[in-house]
Amino acid sequence: MKVCVVGSGGREHALATVLRRHHEVVVTPGNPGIPGSVATPATEIDADLYVIGPEAPLVAGLADELRAAGKLVFGPGADGARLEGSKAWMKDVLVAAGVPTARHGTFTEAEPAFAFLDTLDGLYVVKTDGLAAGKGVIVTTSLEEARAAVLDYLSGDAFGDAGRTLVIEEGLTGPEVSVLAICDGTNAVALTPAQDFKRVGDGDAGPNTGGMGAYSPVPVADQSLIDAVMNDGVLPTLAYLRSIGIDYRGVLYAGLMLTPTGPKMLEYNVRFGDPETQVVLPRLTSDLGELLASAAAGQLGAAPTFDDGAAVTVVCAAEGYPRDLRTGDVIEGLDDAQAVAGVTVFCAGVGANANGELITAGGRVLTVTGQGATLAEARQTAYDAVGKISWPGLHHRNDIASDAAAQRIEDRAPRANS
Ligand code: AMP
Ligand code: GLY
Repeated sequence: MKVCVVGSGGREHALATVLRRHHEVVVTPGNPGIPGSVATPATEIDADLYVIGPEAPLVAGLADELRAAGKLVFGPGADGARLEGSKAWMKDVLVAAGVPTARHGTFTEAEPAFAFLDTLDGLYVVKTDGLAAGKGVIVTTSLEEARAAVLDYLSGDAFGDAGRTLVIEEGLTGPEVSVLAICDGTNAVALTPAQDFKRVGDGDAGPNTGGMGAYSPVPVADQSLIDAVMNDGVLPTLAYLRSIGIDYRGVLYAGLMLTPTGPKMLEYNVRFGDPETQVVLPRLTSDLGELLASAAAGQLGAAPTFDDGAAVTVVCAAEGYPRDLRTGDVIEGLDDAQAVAGVTVFCAGVGANANGELITAGGRVLTVTGQGATLAEARQTAYDAVGKISWPGLHHRNDIASDAAAQRIEDRAPRANS
């Protein structure tokens, strides 16, 4: 099969790498660090299967456009992608489908928003309704900071139109788990779970990012939890979407918090997680292309299988990420990192200079995945490789998977963003 992967990040590099085990792969637009990258738009590429990586083209209707041209596409249409394009609508869907989630309200004006904040218990969450590259969420114990965020978002100053409608939620606590479900419109199957690290700094300090690292498997996420997520979350959601005419074929990414009163759905994304994909897919032992093609055709095939080992990925970020970036620096040591046994380096914000050298070109530059028999081994391998990479201002977290590798339960209570 010839597969066209759409996107240009570490997630798409991982998709392409794992699809290529069994299939021919082209990536558009990709980046200079991803083999098989071409500038030709997906609509002009002839492939047997199209896999759309990021949320923006899904929300913009690329899957619809390709389907209208008779193509086999893995990724929801604009109607289903609205789950990620509007957090307010996503919350409405969760409630309609009966899926447990945080108490919340949707607001376009400050006074009612302030009144709702006053009803919460000391941990406040303020989110943009629209897309904000994983950065539009503030979690804080300060009522003052929450109120300031409300004004900042509503004014359009912080996130433009994405913030003019906002969602306020009660703050929940507990370990977070990401479950990626492959959906064919009616049925769904879960991939092995992963845990993501959203804050920029060690110990969950600093602002939210798109994700600074991940690991898989997740010791706290046993089979009974996965069954509950599928039976009480993903499948009722798919059924509700069908009932309103939405045929959802793609990934439904369930972002869960395991609270003291049971798992709650924090969010849905409509695509593979980044960097979760970089730890989940390398562990796959079955054919990814067959799985995604079967879901795209509305006839989910055999359940995927995974190895018994572990994977840990560490994001190497550019100076200033997630705020003001410094880019354009030559990436040193990539070959040495890749030469470490058990390591795969996925290129995300990577460009090339006139000499053909790879340079930093985005916030999250590389995701470095280590695999091993245990989380501790995978973690050591990933960090050994990270230590060989350098550019001015490179930063990464040092504590990815440290608790899980030491067999401590992760319970990273949310803290103020800054
Ligand atoms: P979201 O984009 O909705 O997943 O939010 C990003 C991150 O903010 C989540 O992964 C959590 O770490 C945190 N978060 C979101 N909603 C809540 C909540 N209700 N309570 C506590 N933390 C939250
Ligand atoms: N790593 C979080 C996300 O992909 O949304």
